[in-house]
Amino acid sequence: MSTIVIICFILFHSSTSAFLSSTFSQSDPHELVRRSHILSKCAYTHARPGPPPHFHARIQSDRYAENTKPILVRNATIWTAANDGHEVLTGDLLMHRGLVKAIGDVPLSMIQQLELENVNLEIVDVHGAWVTPGIVDLHSHIGVGSAPELDGADDTNSYKAPILPWLRSIDGLNTHDASYELAMAGGVTTAQILPGSADNIGGQAFIMKLRPTAERSTSSMLLEPPYTLNGSHFDHSLTPRWRHMKHACGENPSSAYGITRLDSGWNFRAAYNHARKLRDVQDAFCAKAESDSWDDLAGKTFPEDLQWESLVDVLRGRVKLAVHCYEAVDLDGIVRLTNEFEFPVASFHHAGETYLVPELLKKMWASTPAIALFASNFRKKREAYRGSEFAPRVLAEHGIDVIMKSDHPVINSRYLLHEAAQAQYYGLDPALALLSVTYTPARAMGMDHRIGMLKSDLDIVIWSSHPLSLASTPTQVYIDGIPQLSLPSSYFVKGPITPPRTPNFDSEKVAAVVHEGIPPLEPRSVKRALFVNVSGLYMRGEGSSGVMRISEQAGLVGVEDGRVVCINQCSDFAAGVVSIVDLEGGTITPGLTSFGAPLGLVEIRLEPSTNDGRVHNPLDGDLPVVLGNKLMRAQDGLMFGGQNLLLAYRGGITTAITAPSGTFLQGISTAFSPGAAHARVDKASIVDEVALHVGISMSSRVGVSTQVAALRNMLFGEGGDEILRSVRKGKTTLVVDVESADIMATLLRLKDEYEAHSGRELRMTFAGATEAHIIAHEIARAGVSVIVTQSKPYPSTWEQRRILAGPPITQESLVTALLRAGANVAIGVVDEHNVRHTRFEVGWSLLTSNGTINRTIALALATTNLEKALGVQREMPQDLVAYRGGDVFEFEAKVVGVISETLGRTDLFV
Ligand SMILES: *[C@@H]1O[C@H](CO)[C@@H](O)[C@H](O)[C@H]1NC(C)=O
Ligand SMILES: *[C@@H]1O[C@H](CO)[C@@H](O)[C@H](O)[C@H]1NC(C)=O
Ligand SMILES: *[C@@H]1O[C@H](CO)[C@@H](O)[C@H](O)[C@H]1NC(C)=O
Ligand SMILES: *[C@@H]1O[C@H](CO)[C@@H](O)[C@H](O)[C@H]1NC(C)=O
Ligand SMILES: *[C@@H]1O[C@H](CO)[C@@H](O)[C@H](O)[C@H]1NC(C)=O
Repeated sequence: MSTIVIICFILFHSSTSAFLSSTFSQSDPHELVRRSHILSKCAYTHARPGPPPHFHARIQSDRYAENTKPILVRNATIWTAANDGHEVLTGDLLMHRGLVKAIGDVPLSMIQQLELENVNLEIVDVHGAWVTPGIVDLHSHIGVGSAPELDGADDTNSYKAPILPWLRSIDGLNTHDASYELAMAGGVTTAQILPGSADNIGGQAFIMKLRPTAERSTSSMLLEPPYTLNGSHFDHSLTPRWRHMKHACGENPSSAYGITRLDSGWNFRAAYNHARKLRDVQDAFCAKAESDSWDDLAGKTFPEDLQWESLVDVLRGRVKLAVHCYEAVDLDGIVRLTNEFEFPVASFHHAGETYLVPELLKKMWASTPAIALFASNFRKKREAYRGSEFAPRVLAEHGIDVIMKSDHPVINSRYLLHEAAQAQYYGLDPALALLSVTYTPARAMGMDHRIGMLKSDLDIVIWSSHPLSLASTPTQVYIDGIPQLSLPSSYFVKGPITPPRTPNFDSEKVAAVVHEGIPPLEPRSVKRALFVNVSGLYMRGEGSSGVMRISEQAGLVGVEDGRVVCINQCSDFAAGVVSIVDLEGGTITPGLTSFGAPLGLVEIRLEPSTNDGRVHNPLDGDLPVVLGNKLMRAQDGLMFGGQNLLLAYRGGITTAITAPSGTFLQGISTAFSPGAAHARVDKASIVDEVALHVGISMSSRVGVSTQVAALRNMLFGEGGDEILRSVRKGKTTLVVDVESADIMATLLRLKDEYEAHSGRELRMTFAGATEAHIIAHEIARAGVSVIVTQSKPYPSTWEQRRILAGPPITQESLVTALLRAGANVAIGVVDEHNVRHTRFEVGWSLLTSNGTINRTIALALATTNLEKALGVQREMPQDLVAYRGGDVFEFEAKVVGVISETLGRTDLFV
């Protein structure tokens, strides 16, 4: 409504001005100034954005900070991003005045020149380490959706109207977000700060470098902000700088405004129609000015409108537009919109179905957009359900630019490079994978003249191993030539220097496209199989708490009815076997156990009709009388055959332990085989009732002391559900979801109180436990186990704010600190889509532990330690997983089979 009023006002305003025409004479000096202003504004309407003249001849960066020392990085393996990501130079790199001065061979004369100038040159010998340009995040909400999340610091979206092109993310940018330091610790040096996706047009975005500045202001962090930043009165003879804007289609605007895709479609068209009218009025005005028809313009002003000028700039092709869109229906709508109004789109974001419609993308007006993706974060809503880990590869095969993005804090920007590494794991070419977080996003944001490639700005990262290897970590990060990390480089463990040789996923890629993102994932079950070229067979030891032992070095392993029946001496067995599986030097290792995600209870997290649903919180509303004192059992809500569940199985999870989803009193967890077709399959259930789960949180609507009082009442009271009585007797484990060290301390005291009062043990485990390192020794002494569900920590909430960040910020990680204190530690995964990658989460802890975790301990973290933490008392089945091409924690390996004692069969995925 208001928008229409504004447009009418302009038109009305310009026509009233016409009355005043010809009141000034041509020689009037004011009139001459006026005309020259008009002509310069008109010239500016035609100007193309880009680097200013002579940009590449600059000898000092505009972001150079006084007293930044020149640095010579010696003996580096430098991936420059040039030559389509194939240029690797070995040698040195000279950085001075915020710029890369020389790379590869640094001429001696340059160094002598610095000596002559009496500059103090710092020399950093990196002993052959990989050096890349700084990581560029095309899609971040850092600063606008800050960590820890506080109501006073959520400035991601405006909810005032779906069309708001005049808003600017810079206006909400918090300089105190804990994420800046964390993101830099992952090598991220530059990010585009986008408004959220609640609106169809959520506003303008800004590019920032993440390092702190002396001025401490948000403006000083911006990279080449457009001149409109300071208002309309800038020098119009300057080369325009790129502007940035966010659009969004689909479910987010629909749910924010109670509208549908139909409304969104019209919202866009109405907005662009307004903008087009204003642009046409401007063009007509300028056509007169430029053809010297000043009489027609007498007394008129250049037609402007502060609310719509940014959208006019979109039509003038001067805005790098980032469009959040998932499904073919939404992508098609935007492609039509760009052709109707004739404007370019720089990038589609999330873009879950783009890999299914590459030809549609090429019909975008002006040029095909880059596609900014997650590697594996799919299925949490309907429009994301058909996302595929093979999308980066498929798009690249169609010649479309691929970008990996964080959508921070959706994915912690610190691990953006890991998104690229996963894309490579699933088949994206390594050079394109590295480009996807450096040069390609830099180009999509119009900043490729200075970042994303090692040729201009001095943003570089030195890595502990090849940047695409698992858990590669920066050992130093320079932004504008200024080092950002303070740990000594001697700390870092050196990893592999070549990119991982990733598995072959050709047939899975084809299936993803053929089945439009929902490929059949059911295994092929066989009675007998022979695994050949097996480099090692590992099995569970005796007793439920035993660690793994190496059974034997094995070349051949024969299996029947889910059991190993021969090792090497398999000639008799082999005779009748039809399924022969070559492991290409891979291993057979015990299957992993998962905990933390609502696996089997949730299919599409944001679609209630696809889920078991949340349990009642007795502290927050009435518990239905009909429930009596019964607690919810996860087993009663299990659904089999879902995508997350089958992908977890294909990722080497042979036991899933799931608790009901709820706050405070959650209910009873269950352990089951993710490979079973349904609950009535014999032995689909491994343990019907595992543990009793509660959550104590500062984020609850009910106070912490109230939650603890209720828990105390449950423990010290009588009666109640069978499982509660079993907890009181010290037979069943009480698992508490808890983040804050202070709440953990309270729980330890409650445990002491209960044990003193009852004379019985209270078996207690903490899950989540982000702040557990603060009281690690007390936890270990109390015999409490810890299930770390954020092995890559992030301070989302206040009660998680005291994270132990891990290398390169701290030497120790939460897992290593708890192990060192002597606690029983396990690793869980909370996101159901990520359970399939449990082995990489554990691998990350293993590889960053500086040798304090070995493979045996790592396996225990996701098997025996976890089962012990949850109080599983039976001996677990000897379910084994066959990895082709490598070992369980390696990017080189792919799961090709499960030898399931539980189900009495062998499941093959090849
Ligand atoms: C570079 O570092 C590697 C690894 O430490 C070493 O083997 C090599 O000799 C070094 N090269 C030079 C030129 O210093
Ligand atoms: C905005 O104004 C500040 C202060 O006058 C100035 O330093 C800065 O360069 C201006 N920024 C732009 C983009 O014009
Ligand atoms: C890493 O391990 C090595 C070998 O055990 C040790 O010398 C070094 O001090 C450790 N580094 C850190 C930072 O703990
Ligand atoms: C086992 O696989 C590895 C890796 O593919 C290969 O190098 C080796 O030659 C294979 N060995 C046999 C005996 O086939
Ligand atoms: C792994 O580390 C544990 C604890 O330090 C040790 O007991 C065990 O022998 C190690 N295992 C291997 C295979 O090195």
